[in-house]
Amino acid sequence: MDNLKNKKQKDDESLSAFEKAGLQGDDPRVVPIKLDGPAPEGNDIVYPDYSDEEQETWKILYKRQRELLPGRAAQEYMAGLEMMKFPEERIPYLGEVGRILEETTNWQVARVPGLLFEGDFFSRLARRVFPSTDYIRPRHELDYTPAPDLFHDIFGHTPMITNRAFADFYQKIGKASMNAQGKDRRRLETIYWFTVEFGLIHTGQGLRIYGNGIISSYAETQHSLTDKVEKRPADLDKMCEQPYDVWHMQPLLFVIDSFEQLEQDFYGWANKRGLLD
Ligand SMILES: [Fe+2]
Repeated sequence: MDNLKNKKQKDDESLSAFEKAGLQGDDPRVVPIKLDGPAPEGNDIVYPDYSDEEQETWKILYKRQRELLPGRAAQEYMAGLEMMKFPEERIPYLGEVGRILEETTNWQVARVPGLLFEGDFFSRLARRVFPSTDYIRPRHELDYTPAPDLFHDIFGHTPMITNRAFADFYQKIGKASMNAQGKDRRRLETIYWFTVEFGLIHTGQGLRIYGNGIISSYAETQHSLTDKVEKRPADLDKMCEQPYDVWHMQPLLFVIDSFEQLEQDFYGWANKRGLLD
């Protein structure tokens, strides 16, 4: 009976890839969490008591990715990384991360316990609050972790939020998602996947990465710019129908021309569906 129910849910077209993954896998980290109260924001966030090994994990991940990204990551991400001033030697404090975002693009950070149920996640984006985890992957998962951890959230996501056009686009995704029903929910998660998580951008120097799912992964950073990956222009009508798989490196990525263009295109896409005024 449960199998039948799971099979039916897996085939439901309104489910996101993450929701389907949650039904398939037995790793609780990929099952979205529904919050039962407010998540702490700003100075209410407590700095966890990290072990020496966890602090060392940050040092390793930070150093490795910091060396790999120049010439691969978008200039807007690199500028954001400079602004964030993450310490090399210890895990950053989320309250401080939020303070810098507030100064640059009027965003805030909330500390959340894991992958969130979409309503809890997008309602925060809609009011310019980035939900971030504050735990770090175990050492044996340095190269791959199936769900967000603080390296993905803090190192991967927050530098891009210092960019005005990206930050405004990101808020619009949250607002549109709060108004979406049925297949539009899944379409929005697909756009989120191929932009926020796995986006590439054209620059005068060639293709660069801005997607945080790539930027926080050592292997995918190298893989994404090779000829093994098909690249298509970021036409949102086509992008939103493109299937993807959260378990493997991406064989297909979409390329934007600028963050301003992305924000405008997204507004047009969402407005014609009645998801944004
Ligand atoms: Fe992410």
